Amino acid sequence: MDAWDKALGRAMFTEDYYVDYLLANALFIKQVLSPMPHARIKKIDASRALSISGVHGVFTASSIPGENQVGYAIPDQPLIAEGKVRYAGELVALVAASDFDKAIRGAEEVVVDYEPLPALLDPLEAMERRDVLVHEERGSNIAFQTRVRKGNVEEGFSKAHVVVENEYRLHHQEHAYLETEAALAIPESEGRVTVIGALQYPHLGQKIVSRVLGVPMSKVKIVAPYIGGGFGGKDDEGPLTCAKAALVAYLTGRPAFILYSREDSIRVHPKREAAVIRYKSGVDAGGKLTAIEVTIIHDTGAYANRGPFILWRATMHASGPYEVPNAKVDGYAVYTNKVYQGSFRGFGNLSIQFAVERQMDLLAEKLGLDPVEFRLRNILREGSYTLTSQLLDHSVGVGEALKRVAEKADWWRKRREIEEFNKSSERFKRGIGVAVAWHGISTSRAVPDWSNAYVKVELDGSVTVYTGIVEMGQGSPTSSHVQIVSEILGVPVDKVKVVFATTEAPDSGATHASRGTGIGGLGVLVAAAKIRERLASLAGRVLGVDPGELEFKDGRVYSRRDPSKSISWRDLVREAYARGVEVSATGYYYLPKGRFDESTGQGFAYPAYSYIVLVTEVEVDTRTGLVRVLRVYPGLASGKIINPKQVEGQIEGAIAQAIGYTLMEYLYFDEYGRVLNANFTDYVIPTPKDIPEIEKPVYVEDKFRHGAFGAKGVGEMALIPGPASIANAVAHALGVNITSTPLTPWRLLEYIKRSPRG
Ligand code: MTE
Ligand code: MOS
Repeated sequence: MDAWDKALGRAMFTEDYYVDYLLANALFIKQVLSPMPHARIKKIDASRALSISGVHGVFTASSIPGENQVGYAIPDQPLIAEGKVRYAGELVALVAASDFDKAIRGAEEVVVDYEPLPALLDPLEAMERRDVLVHEERGSNIAFQTRVRKGNVEEGFSKAHVVVENEYRLHHQEHAYLETEAALAIPESEGRVTVIGALQYPHLGQKIVSRVLGVPMSKVKIVAPYIGGGFGGKDDEGPLTCAKAALVAYLTGRPAFILYSREDSIRVHPKREAAVIRYKSGVDAGGKLTAIEVTIIHDTGAYANRGPFILWRATMHASGPYEVPNAKVDGYAVYTNKVYQGSFRGFGNLSIQFAVERQMDLLAEKLGLDPVEFRLRNILREGSYTLTSQLLDHSVGVGEALKRVAEKADWWRKRREIEEFNKSSERFKRGIGVAVAWHGISTSRAVPDWSNAYVKVELDGSVTVYTGIVEMGQGSPTSSHVQIVSEILGVPVDKVKVVFATTEAPDSGATHASRGTGIGGLGVLVAAAKIRERLASLAGRVLGVDPGELEFKDGRVYSRRDPSKSISWRDLVREAYARGVEVSATGYYYLPKGRFDESTGQGFAYPAYSYIVLVTEVEVDTRTGLVRVLRVYPGLASGKIINPKQVEGQIEGAIAQAIGYTLMEYLYFDEYGRVLNANFTDYVIPTPKDIPEIEKPVYVEDKFRHGAFGAKGVGEMALIPGPASIANAVAHALGVNITSTPLTPWRLLEYIKRSPRG
């Protein structure tokens, strides 16, 4: 719906509101960030900054009128550092000035006196240390632990014919969204404040702003305009960005605008978790998995943030989409003095599926089985029990997706041909790899999840939808929500307008966990269905037919049995207004939850899983160490595909991010835990030239009982097995065992040096 506006530059992003409307009176905010990884704050001297003309204020923890607490899962995080700093990049003060330059100069003149403390940068060390604590009050550097105990692993391994054991290391990832974090806060009468900001969950922003300001949530209105990429990063940092702007606006009584520089953005906001994963798997002579034993250690960084959810997700997905009768999994999220971890497309799951899918290839090789064949012997199907012993009673299309993608990619023939090619090619080696992944839909275990939206039909028959779901490029509110309404009410898509990303809509939950369409769309569906039911009964009376036989289509309502009995949608709506039939409704849907035992990690983890398969072909230049991804074959078992074009876009974007993560992106830290490459010169992301041919996806529409029209979720999917599928292809090309990322040229040359063929 918004393609033209975006293509022509008419779509409004947060910064546009500042530039176009409010420049005259608004204050610009610059952040003062800690250069120290771990230190006590002894004194903050703002006098020199305040003496600069145009600097209106310097705000620190002590300026906060409400609660200085923004911890997501654990209350361990201040909005502005208080007493001590825990990572280089932590916010210490906000400087507000009449323009950019003055704010920047002011920030440079804020003098902070730090007393350095020993810094912990390595999670394995931090786990053991008791003498240095990132959070003294917590008594340990382990922020959170998880476990799964299923069956008996000793017995499982005793039945194993082949056992494979490895330690995997996965690195951080920066979101690199085109739009950095931004928020514009406008103080209003009666102590109200409105914030226009780039965030993925307006109602969470509302909650945090209200807590920081100490005002009721009803006085805080949050709206996200178009967002220039979120990818999870703005789920974490977005509400904090809004709170920073709101704080300054509230304290100064003037509009306040914050826009992170690229450098600040990379230093400040949470990253994809770095992980150490120890993985042992056993398989019997028939090629069936007998047991897994896994230890997952996440470098959580300075604050827990979503760490518990990230670790929990990693733990409960640790088997991959396979049947495993015996399992022991232990997870640790460990505090360090580094930028903290947060949401990033497929969080928790990408790193664990990397380990799972490397293990699957190694097991297949040892068994002398084809990697696809071996996976098919173990793949989850309807009637399977998951790692958490949850029965999958429906919506399990992964096996079929794997078969169909392998056929489409001509897997078996290509595998052989490539092996032949490699025998005769010295410098260039080719490889083809497969990786499969699953991803729990909706929130986990007992954490409540619901959908909610408000739909109203205007007097002229057009329809307005209000939702908190945001538009950050993925298109759920502007495409699939529109389609859902159009399908149910039979009005053309150009008559449906979705007002998205606003706290003036009912709390629709976050636009994360790939829930925007499948779950976010449910509320819209329920509301539209309520209106349809009322209008059907009215139309039945008007036309003298049974409401059950009415079709709503193309702006008309007619009897399926006798299409001459019809009324136009517009007339029907006018009739409803005239006769007192309500044509607005809220739609609410509460997702099913089950029992879960945290001590054994057994029970109901998610109401369903989305599945994905990627087959990837690569070419490796053994002289330079450069890997080129040549072609990717995707396949989804993600329930109903509501907008195929949009889904293709999601797959392509996620594959680009997977290529970046696997082959080029890396966050370098110095000995103080400072990010060395906080810019796009040194933090290298892919360009269009790095993007391979991406084949049309295979869709197995294994509909989900509780998703809108059976949709599950696709937004994160293709990133999850992306790195594993590339690594498996590179391992196939070179005959090496790949256990860590990234596969930058210099690291690949090391692999080649060590390889048996090299
Ligand atoms: N696509 C674009 N273009 N921009 C984004 O920021 N975020 C991803 C994915 N696709 C993102 C994106 C992430 S992390 C999630 S969770 C989903 O979109 C959320 O949106 P959906 O559930 O509505 O698909
Ligand atoms: Mo996506 S990481 O769940 O916002």
